[in-house]
Amino acid sequence: MLKAYAGQWCLVTGASSGIGAEFARQLAARGMHCVLVARREDRLRAVAQEIEAAHGTRCEIILADLAQPHAGRELLAEVTRRGIALELLVNNAGFGMVSSLDETDVARALKLIQVNVTCLTELTLLVAKEMAPRGHGGIINIGSVVSFQPVGYMGAYAASKAYVLHFSEALWAELRPRGVTVTTLCPGTTRTEFFDQSGVPGWAERNRGQDVTSVVRTGLAAFDAGRPSVVSGWTNYLVTLAARLATRVTVVNWSLSIFRPRRT
Ligand SMILES: NC(=O)c1ccc[n+]([C@@H]2O[C@H](COP(=O)([O-])OP(=O)(O)OC[C@H]3O[C@@H](n4cnc5c(N)ncnc54)[C@H](OP(=O)(O)O)[C@@H]3O)[C@@H](O)[C@H]2O)c1
Repeated sequence: MLKAYAGQWCLVTGASSGIGAEFARQLAARGMHCVLVARREDRLRAVAQEIEAAHGTRCEIILADLAQPHAGRELLAEVTRRGIALELLVNNAGFGMVSSLDETDVARALKLIQVNVTCLTELTLLVAKEMAPRGHGGIINIGSVVSFQPVGYMGAYAASKAYVLHFSEALWAELRPRGVTVTTLCPGTTRTEFFDQSGVPGWAERNRGQDVTSVVRTGLAAFDAGRPSVVSGWTNYLVTLAARLATRVTVVNWSLSIFRPRRT
């Protein structure tokens, strides 16, 4: 649970675009000051200016490549150096990777794990260790509908998001009695730059992706209700349910049809 939204500080990773930028907007609309983190300075500055003009709350920008070892620890040291105590952490930064084995860039797969898993874990644990003794605060981690199943041609990404869900739900149970809420938001296809970065440009537009406004609203409502996790959108929820009811072999074989490269 948060002490309050208004006047408190949140940190949003991956705030330079998409879901992260929208989290910053909606949290600022609730009166929060924001620490915005990503690599693209011009995009972060644009989000910060928009928020400050719209809501009059404060925004700090920290440029960080979260694929670097111990990026999380260094980021939090900078937050402390600026005299900021975090009431809410949103671990949103992440990227996907769609490719057949033959075309898989192994270095990029390892970078994906560093950002989506390692840095998220480092930030979550370090921030939770500060929040639990004081008895308030919250963490929102971004999973995915693919947190619930393996996905062919997207194996490392889907597995990274399965980790996010399991890790975060475990912490939700552990920290709830200590006053800290950990909620995982699992979006389905959402219209952001994600699929352009993941090697399948135009995917979200072709597949009627959700808009970031409703996805983030769903996440914040679940967080307010103290829920461990939420899937954004009814259709997406039904897909995750089907994935849990069918056999694992059926599910993984079906998944091949989603991103099968056209020429194979
Ligand atoms: N869009 C979807 O359909 C969808 C569905 C399910 C889950 N998600 C998840 O939602 C989250 C946000 O993605 P999005 O859809 O909003 O995509 P997006 O528009 O591409 O945003 C990704 C954000 O992550 C940041 N980021 C990526 N690598 C980084 C690094 N090495 N260091 C620091 N920041 C990094 C990017 O900032 P810079 O490039 O400026 O560093 C950007 O702000 C991700 O965790 C993604 O896996 C998305």
